[in-house]
Amino acid sequence: MTGTTRRTFLSLAGAALAGAGAAGCSMIEGDDKSTGSGPAKIDRPLNKTRTLVTYFSVPETDDPNNMTEDEENSTHVVGGKVLGNTQHVAQIIEKRTGAEVFRIETAEGLPLDHGTLEDLALEQQEANERPKLKASIPNLEEYDTVFVGYPIWWYDLPMPVYTFLEQHDFTGKNIILFSTHGGNRLGETVGVITDKLPESTVISNAFTISRDDMENAEAEVSDWLDSLG
Ligand SMILES: Cc1cc2nc3c(=O)[nH]c(=O)nc-3n(C[C@H](O)[C@H](O)[C@H](O)COP(=O)(O)O)c2cc1C
Repeated sequence: MTGTTRRTFLSLAGAALAGAGAAGCSMIEGDDKSTGSGPAKIDRPLNKTRTLVTYFSVPETDDPNNMTEDEENSTHVVGGKVLGNTQHVAQIIEKRTGAEVFRIETAEGLPLDHGTLEDLALEQQEANERPKLKASIPNLEEYDTVFVGYPIWWYDLPMPVYTFLEQHDFTGKNIILFSTHGGNRLGETVGVITDKLPESTVISNAFTISRDDMENAEAEVSDWLDSLG
């Protein structure tokens, strides 16, 4: 769907803006690249590292026909198949790097109705919950470089991504972040993850793309991967 007919998250969630300001989230449109404190590039070319792509993504329907606006906002259709926006970016990275993929999923299914999902996500954030995950990565020690992708939820990481980061040992690994969003880009998530993983090298050159810009994802992700080395 085109950007002109989509609502931005900010207009949808206007009432939450005051809270977001208090949390220190950035609303400024600017360079997509983050300004985290780690190196901009990984220490070896991507094709020379053992790489895993992990992501969390919640497409709000699996039916490509007659989508509501909320469903269109949360999805990207490729060859008739409905993908979440973050899932689409993960698949582009997979295709470009030949990496393995691990999808972060909650043990309990999530509601697909947009309003219900928003309410649940906010409740989990306010309670600082760690929703239980369906599975852990069984062989994390086999990878040097781990991509972690997520949608911005309420100006932050979805709480299942906190569970994921805390229940794995990323010591000594390169961590490369990517997000999709409805207006808030990466928010403060690069700093949050850098602080959470002091024994990892969190690459500062994180990627983000708006849900309104998904038709350009292939080209933008390719440029970004090239810039990582
Ligand atoms: C519960 C929920 C909260 C959201 N909060 C934000 C937000 O605070 N800022 C923002 O820019 N986008 C927000 N969005 C929009 C998503 O980040 C955006 O649609 C994203 O591309 C969804 O990715 P996915 O399809 O991979 O799940 C929110 C979406 C949901 C469902």
